[in-house]
Amino acid sequence: MADIEQLARDARADLEAATTVADLEAAKIKHLGKSGPLVLLLRNIKDLPPEQRGPVGKGGNIARKELEAFAADKGAQLADAELDVRLRREVVDVSLPPRAMPQGTLHVLTQTRRLLEDIFLGMGYQVIDAPEVESEWYGFTALNTPVGHPARNPSDTFYIEGRDQGAGANDDALILRTQTSTAQLRTMQKSTPPLYVVHPGRVYRRDDIDATHSDMFHQMEALAIHEGLTLADLKGTIEQFLATLFGGRLEVRLRTHFFPFTEPSVEADVQCFSCRGTGDPLPGDEDSERCRVCRGEGWIEIMGAGMVDPNVLGMVEGYDPDKVTGFAFGIGIDRVAMLRHDFPDLRLLFQNDLRFVRQFPGRP
Ligand code: DAH
Repeated sequence: MADIEQLARDARADLEAATTVADLEAAKIKHLGKSGPLVLLLRNIKDLPPEQRGPVGKGGNIARKELEAFAADKGAQLADAELDVRLRREVVDVSLPPRAMPQGTLHVLTQTRRLLEDIFLGMGYQVIDAPEVESEWYGFTALNTPVGHPARNPSDTFYIEGRDQGAGANDDALILRTQTSTAQLRTMQKSTPPLYVVHPGRVYRRDDIDATHSDMFHQMEALAIHEGLTLADLKGTIEQFLATLFGGRLEVRLRTHFFPFTEPSVEADVQCFSCRGTGDPLPGDEDSERCRVCRGEGWIEIMGAGMVDPNVLGMVEGYDPDKVTGFAFGIGIDRVAMLRHDFPDLRLLFQNDLRFVRQFPGRP
């Protein structure tokens, strides 16, 4: 019996002395494990004289249970304490200012396109997409542009090699579209009136490359088709759009013009948003005798527009020119960006010079 007490005391001392979970585990294995002295004693009980077997068995089991309970308690305490230490050591200081990450911004052209889209979404229009590589049919024929029209000439329009047989007179020849108006027929074929859509995108022309022209630029097309639309609706829509774009109501004037796909066709000018139509330089601008934005004109040419030609409506089933009318216009997105941000050369938009790009930190 004295043996058991001694074993229990030794075991207890080692368990108490443990200061880490690992120490405690080691002490448990040493004293209470399969080859621990207490366990061996109990296992060999049958070798004892019969009168000792009862008391040793009982005493040994009690001691083992007590020690196990003690070890379990102490194990939990040590584990808690160790977790505390770890939590304190590995704490993240959320009040530390983060390392600054270089942040990109949207390109000024994307900002401008999104602004235009937002304005038209606000007026109930849908933004649609259309291909840049287009057939001559969608590009010209469907837009009432006759064979022989200068725009169909390969010196003005990029034709896709191998698909350019009969360029200028073959509906299947493939072109890089020269205007976003090509989206008109594609949209009409997919839906029935009423139709209110805008389509922003790239267009390509074999223009000379100078400060105001590039062989690729961006337009946004608007197309509205409904019963009873008139030129007054077109003008009202343009006025509303430009008031939102330039922040305040501005006069709009329509000048007669010609486009094959509209009748009548107009060019829309907007009163200069900088001098408000006076043509005078901004107060304090002594270096200029006239408004720099409109060059003293008082007006800015802003878009081509018109009432959709009945011939165009007649191209698609479900668009009866006797029942519905429509208006359309096309505006240069690059030009709007240049006007709003006052930079002189359209090509700056496509050169990716960071000194330019960084001047327009729009929202990402
Ligand atoms: N597509 C014409 C251009 O590129 C612009 C235009 C004029 C679009 C009249 C239209 C329109 O929708 O009705 O010059």
